Amino acid sequence: MKLGSSSISVMSLLIITMSSLLIHTSQDSPTPRDFLMTLINHNLARAHVGVAHIVWNETVAAYARDYAEKRAADCDLIHSRGPYGENLAMGPRGGPFVVDDAVTMWVGEENDYNYASNSCQPRKGCGHYTQVIWRKSVHVGCARVICDNGGTFIICSYDPPGNIIGERPY
Ligand SMILES: *[C@@H]1O[C@H](CO)[C@@H](O)[C@H](O)[C@H]1NC(C)=O
Repeated sequence: MKLGSSSISVMSLLIITMSSLLIHTSQDSPTPRDFLMTLINHNLARAHVGVAHIVWNETVAAYARDYAEKRAADCDLIHSRGPYGENLAMGPRGGPFVVDDAVTMWVGEENDYNYASNSCQPRKGCGHYTQVIWRKSVHVGCARVICDNGGTFIICSYDPPGNIIGERPY
């Protein structure tokens, strides 16, 4: 069998990802499939710009779960102002919205980021994307909660935090 270097790196990424698959099964954790897709989605976006992979971290994930619980009453997209970088998203009432759906939205901002000027395109947001691919952010943990109003609140926390003003993501 012949493998290009990119398929080798995707395979090692899968192995790294799957090796930490079995450790989290609390209520607000992503399902195993969502967990896997969330990490792959982050790491493909990072590989695309030559940034090393990010790994799941239970300390960071516990923080994300804790904050998701706090937002369950209102589902508001309010930042926690904690020690980590943070991407938030809200899914519609009753819709099947998983963490990876949020990551796909965030990664979709890639075209709205201008590396040359290190800024977003006019009238566009790209900060979720730059956090996903931020080189120095090497630990991630995400959580998902169904809110009292039926919406879905998604949070991914990043350590060390990204989006430092005046720094480039990579
Ligand atoms: C997980 O993240 C915490 C908090 O940032 C850090 O102190 C810890 O070393 C990390 N754990 C691993 C296994 O990397």
